[in-house]
Amino acid sequence: MTLLILGGTGTLGRQIVRKALENGFQVRCIVRNKRAANFLKEWGAELVYGDLTLPETLPAAFQGITAVIDAATTKVTEENDNSSIINVDWYGKLIVIELSKLINIKRFIFLSILNSEKYPYITLMEMKYRVEKLIKSSGLTFTIFKYAGFFQSLINQYALPLLEKKPILVTSKSPAIAYIDTQDAAYFCIKSLSIKEAQNKIFATGSSRAWKSEEIIGLCEKFSGQKAKTLMFSILFFKIFRQITGFFDWSLQISERLAFIEVINDTPNFKSSIQYTYNILEINPREILELDFYFQEYFEIMLKTLEEIKKTKASIIAT
Ligand SMILES: NC(=O)c1ccc[n+]([C@@H]2O[C@H](COP(=O)([O-])OP(=O)(O)OC[C@H]3O[C@@H](n4cnc5c(N)ncnc54)[C@H](OP(=O)(O)O)[C@@H]3O)[C@@H](O)[C@H]2O)c1
Repeated sequence: MTLLILGGTGTLGRQIVRKALENGFQVRCIVRNKRAANFLKEWGAELVYGDLTLPETLPAAFQGITAVIDAATTKVTEENDNSSIINVDWYGKLIVIELSKLINIKRFIFLSILNSEKYPYITLMEMKYRVEKLIKSSGLTFTIFKYAGFFQSLINQYALPLLEKKPILVTSKSPAIAYIDTQDAAYFCIKSLSIKEAQNKIFATGSSRAWKSEEIIGLCEKFSGQKAKTLMFSILFFKIFRQITGFFDWSLQISERLAFIEVINDTPNFKSSIQYTYNILEINPREILELDFYFQEYFEIMLKTLEEIKKTKASIIAT
């Protein structure tokens, strides 16, 4: 089976490539920059140049493909405005879906955001939901995974500010969110390819325990041995601020912002939705990494590295 992976250089995409190769799949990746993606080639993937904003660059990669995993999304940068999101996360996806139909692939896996259907005023959410609807009506055999966020995104939001002695931004009404490690999210994706019941399903995806902001800060404090400074905002503040100034482009830095705005707040039955995902994909929750272990390992490595840097600096100064 040859998999075509889009977004293979990304945070989740690279874990999908790795897991697919470990499981014996042939992997082809559409990449914008072959040099930057060379690590995927070293792992054993084939690289084909392609850019979602340049439709003519895409068809060549589809020859001989059995399944597509689309982990590509607009990179969050100051320059990437709503039109970049629309070009990549809507028009680019239209082409990918059409090409997948044309060669009759066996499975189309799309990665989306939890509650995308509820936030049409956030461009990325709107595009994600549109693509989900398009896939469902396309006749393709599909599986869609929807995430609240990845453990990896929490490093920037909680761990780094704490280590840099900067304030951590939190909202007054903090929802409990079931984040997931990208290695586990990749495991879910690859496993779904061999499970018939995963066909034509949409899965809410997270680890089995949900965490509130204050609990995550507690973990960081415990494993770093440092006290966090927090800056509390009300959700109302964000809403009013957005309406008055338009300053916050909610489509930007979505992964970070998702973690502390109301987006995940009103997800009824999230726990049972996640349980459903585990049941269908035959996943034992004990196999899945939990956030406390992830942070424990992160801080152990970081503190050791920082200590070594300090010692090296001291010995350089002394000589
Ligand atoms: N991060 C989160 O917390 C979160 C939460 C919910 C859902 N998700 C979803 O999970 C998926 C993976 O997210 P991620 O955080 O791993 O993404 P990411 O790290 O931002 O990676 C995005 C990938 O898309 C590629 N890409 C961007 N523009 C492209 C274009 N014009 N043509 C071809 N490829 C392009 C990038 O390639 P380059 O290396 O060339 O830039 C990169 O490989 C996405 O669908 C995302 O919406 C993420």
